[in-house]
Amino acid sequence: MALIGVFDSGVGGLSILDEALRQLPNHDYLYFADSANAPYGERSAEWIAERSLSICQSLADEGCQAIVVACNTATAEAIQSIRAQLKTIPIIGVEPGIKPAALQSEKGLVGVLATEATLKSDKFNALLATLPVDCRFVKQAGAGLVPLIESGQLHAPETAALLAQHLQPMRAAGIDTLVLGCTHYPFLMPLILNQLGSSVRVVDTSEAVIRQLARQLEAHRIPTEVSGRRSLLLLSTADGTRLHSMAMQLLNSNTAELRIDFKTVGLDQTALCR
Ligand code: DGL
Repeated sequence: MALIGVFDSGVGGLSILDEALRQLPNHDYLYFADSANAPYGERSAEWIAERSLSICQSLADEGCQAIVVACNTATAEAIQSIRAQLKTIPIIGVEPGIKPAALQSEKGLVGVLATEATLKSDKFNALLATLPVDCRFVKQAGAGLVPLIESGQLHAPETAALLAQHLQPMRAAGIDTLVLGCTHYPFLMPLILNQLGSSVRVVDTSEAVIRQLARQLEAHRIPTEVSGRRSLLLLSTADGTRLHSMAMQLLNSNTAELRIDFKTVGLDQTALCR
């Protein structure tokens, strides 16, 4: 059993943590939400890279044996430098699933809803350049959605209206496949399905990300046998109590067996967990 760090700008990475708890329940998890600084998606590439790197360094200092960068924006801007700095532990990133979407789309018309930083990033555009030219991508930055999700307004009329505005160009183009390129957006799935209808396929990569984590744990010979009660520590740079209540609301996996603790932290703190 290992200690696995999962990091996001806020509560979005809980969609990835949920999948990790489902597929790999025999580990301890440390979830870090940088909610005091969310959204990342409208920040500069340099800021995102520097901040993500120091968070991952802190998670490694806390003893994490693997880290999931559960944020498309941080993956796009920082994954290379994180891997270069933390050479000995597996670092798993998340990327918008544009490749599977291009393969699945019958019309060759795919919508991509992601943060502005992800859509502008070199990493995303390099991936896009490898895909067949006969597939057209309608890209849209989901400006304003992350703060609404962070404040728990998952079903609010304001959220529905903003989402409808962002999905409009995709509906007009007649997409048959939508890629969720931000880990916060799966929490809007009921609204998305309601607005796009069931004929549009939604691509979310969380399952594949955790399968990759499982392969990496195996490659690094990290044992999966449980010793003692498993734990989940929720850390937030904004408000640990709030992160805890959001996690209890958003996680679907069985958390009854877990010892769950939560805390408000600052990155300048020498030890995050104590
Ligand atoms: N959840 C994040 C992502 O996957 C970032 C959202 C944000 O902070 O803008 O991109």
